[in-house]
Amino acid sequence: MTRRALAVVSAGLSQPSSTRLLADQLAAATRDELVRRGSEVELHVVDLREYAHDVVNNMLTGFPPAALREVIDTVTGADGLIAVTPIFSASYNGLFKSFFDVLDSGSLVDRPVLIGATGGTARHSLALEHAVRPMFAYLRSVVVPTAVFAAPEDWSDGTADGALRGRIRRAAGELADQIERRPPASGPADPFALTTDFLQMLGRSDDPPVS
Ligand SMILES: Cc1cc2nc3c(=O)[nH]c(=O)nc-3n(C[C@H](O)[C@H](O)[C@H](O)COP(=O)(O)O)c2cc1C
Repeated sequence: MTRRALAVVSAGLSQPSSTRLLADQLAAATRDELVRRGSEVELHVVDLREYAHDVVNNMLTGFPPAALREVIDTVTGADGLIAVTPIFSASYNGLFKSFFDVLDSGSLVDRPVLIGATGGTARHSLALEHAVRPMFAYLRSVVVPTAVFAAPEDWSDGTADGALRGRIRRAAGELADQIERRPPASGPADPFALTTDFLQMLGRSDDPPVS
């Protein structure tokens, strides 16, 4: 049985948060789909509001505090990512953008990503396409075709209505497809890993390699 790690990032600020509610439903649908296909799934849900101060400190100092470092490693080391933001002023909110700004460049290359958003009006659903998707394109992630937007009328008593449930299921299937196409993730990249041969660094590349 293949083990898969799924990271879920929610940038909702309210408590309770409709963004977190959507993130949880996307996570459950993706987990169920991967399990149905024979994988074992480890879910890691990150509520960014808990790390808001750490994210700002990271932006100011260039270094993540320990708790945020752990979150970054979890997100960048996962097989797939579900990233959900509330729409603020017709775009992602500042916390969502700041979190992805502090990741090392290249840490989400080729990573399957499902994007979602909540908003006060369905008229802003295309913010997913003109703001969130281009950001992940810049990070060279692989964003699945179905992006899931939930407006207030898509919920009744905290339950997704039929149309939203259908979009969640479709997006989850697409994310599972992308995850399955790849070998299991080997965890976060080591920022201190030697990428150059040591002898080459010493200018002695003709020496036999040390075994
Ligand atoms: C500062 C601010 C700006 C907002 N701007 C928009 C907007 O442009 N379009 C929209 O549809 N909703 C907008 N909203 C509404 C939120 O996107 C919506 O309430 C969201 O679901 C809140 O998510 P949460 O419950 O997870 O905090 C805005 C809310 C705030 C607080």
